Amino acid sequence: MIELKNLSFTYENKEVFKNLSLKVKKGEKVGIIGESGCGKSTLLRLMAGLYEPSSGEMIIDGENIPEKIIRKVSVIMQSPMLLPMSIRENITMGHEVSEDKLKKILEDANIKKWIDSLPEGIETYLGDRADELSGGQAQRIAIARAMCKDTEILLLDEPTSALDGENAASVLEALDRFSIGKTVIHVTHRKEHLNGYDRIFNMKDGCLFLQ
Ligand SMILES: Nc1ncnc2c1ncn2[C@@H]1O[C@H](COP(=O)(O)OP(=O)(O)O)[C@@H](O)[C@H]1O
Ligand SMILES: [Mg+2]
Repeated sequence: MIELKNLSFTYENKEVFKNLSLKVKKGEKVGIIGESGCGKSTLLRLMAGLYEPSSGEMIIDGENIPEKIIRKVSVIMQSPMLLPMSIRENITMGHEVSEDKLKKILEDANIKKWIDSLPEGIETYLGDRADELSGGQAQRIAIARAMCKDTEILLLDEPTSALDGENAASVLEALDRFSIGKTVIHVTHRKEHLNGYDRIFNMKDGCLFLQ
């Protein structure tokens, strides 16, 4: 499902990693931990097709060029990018989703109750109100968005690190439900969030060490 072969990546003149290789099978759950600044987010952005490797090759769900890889993965980062559109549009992002499926997604993302409590519900415009949302609400919108995109691969970059305990628990619960059957790469500094994962790597000096 994911194959990185001798991947190297350099920002201008800062080399983040060199000759990194990793294979992840369909349905496998892989955790990555490591000190701040070691390159975890850079690696995830590469796998998301947001950056081009300096050298080496990557095949993500059958695709090897960033423009195509972008369509094959869903990414949830520390804080989501919400756009000046309705909650509905922020979630569906142009994907065709039936009302029934959307309802199920809102429930699974732990966000339905809150949306239903808003006077305009899912049609609430987020333009001026995006900063009124809590980090947990914004992150659950991002999860619902990823559920609509419905890719085989889910990339998580410290998805709960900006949230307080209660919100983090609700977001983690939604992510666990969503991760079932998916291929997941989860970057975190909280090892306890990786319970049940198939493999956990520690990233150090540009390399991945199996824990
Ligand atoms: N856009 C950028 N331009 C230049 N250097 C960057 C950029 N983003 C990150 N870096 C540097 O690359 C290294 C890896 O960063 P990052 O992947 O964000 O690490 P982590 O997610 O593990 O904290 C760090 O030294 C960081 O300062
Ligand atoms: Mg990071």
